[in-house]
Amino acid sequence: MDLDLAGKIAVVTGASRGIGLATVRALRDEGAVVVAAARRPTPDLTAAATTTVATDLATADGATQLIEATRREHGHVDLLVNNVGGGARLSLAPFGELDDEDWADALATNLMSAVRVTRAALPLLGRNGGAIVNVSSIGARRPDGPPLAYNVAKAALSALTAGLAAELARLGVRVNTVSPGPTRTAMWQSEHGLGGQLAAAMNVPIDAVVAGAPAQVGMVTGRLSEPEEVASLICFLLSGRADNITGADHLVDGGAIRSL
Ligand SMILES: NC(=O)c1ccc[n+]([C@@H]2O[C@H](COP(=O)([O-])OP(=O)(O)OC[C@H]3O[C@@H](n4cnc5c(N)ncnc54)[C@H](OP(=O)(O)O)[C@@H]3O)[C@@H](O)[C@H]2O)c1
Repeated sequence: MDLDLAGKIAVVTGASRGIGLATVRALRDEGAVVVAAARRPTPDLTAAATTTVATDLATADGATQLIEATRREHGHVDLLVNNVGGGARLSLAPFGELDDEDWADALATNLMSAVRVTRAALPLLGRNGGAIVNVSSIGARRPDGPPLAYNVAKAALSALTAGLAAELARLGVRVNTVSPGPTRTAMWQSEHGLGGQLAAAMNVPIDAVVAGAPAQVGMVTGRLSEPEEVASLICFLLSGRADNITGADHLVDGGAIRSL
């Protein structure tokens, strides 16, 4: 299926590894011109993207820097993927142990990054229609467990999508959410991510946590998603093939969320 993305200017946040890097590569393979941002761009990212921007998107300045660099080098934006997420203080602690800094970090990384990047990009979007994908999480639909601040921030991000879809339709801009379940990235595989924290709490190796995640989360396919599978859905939603799809939340979760 030709997604007709050749020559489109695409901005991807949180792009140095995982789902972001897979999305940059998929967009590049479709012929898009990709501007990619992370705090520490990796050689893999530099090889895949047209332009890389080293910036902290948990800050207001970071969003401005990214879009200003995009405007300077490419003039406008057709496609935006607000993928950055997680957070320096991502925590499995119960509500009573989460302080203001934990909440501020979760909201800055998972919600305000998308708010600020989208707001900064707005004057550059929509000349020929445009499309935004916000990367949320199944945690937005299942906030009854840790990491609570992250799940609540993702729920707000999913709500932002629905509100923006209505408001930006007049500009010909579509906005959708992609909500992954457990996906094989550093979020599960690194000792600093969720997988590492769960492994420490359970006193088992990270590999055991990763292997047990599908059953734990109720993924009926019995396996984690791969970052490339999430990237494929993101690319489809960005393309004209999805021209009448907006304001919706799309799961890539191995069947974990089965409610209607
Ligand atoms: N993996 C999963 O199981 C899963 C499940 C549900 C939802 N998600 C969501 O999917 C998205 C991607 O997750 P992932 O698993 O691919 O994560 P990942 O492998 O941890 O990658 C996160 C990316 O974001 C960048 N980043 C983090 N904080 C940043 C900041 N403040 N400013 C700029 N860039 C920043 C990182 O690069 P630097 O460190 O260099 O900045 C990295 O490129 C996130 O929104 C996550 O919440 C993931």
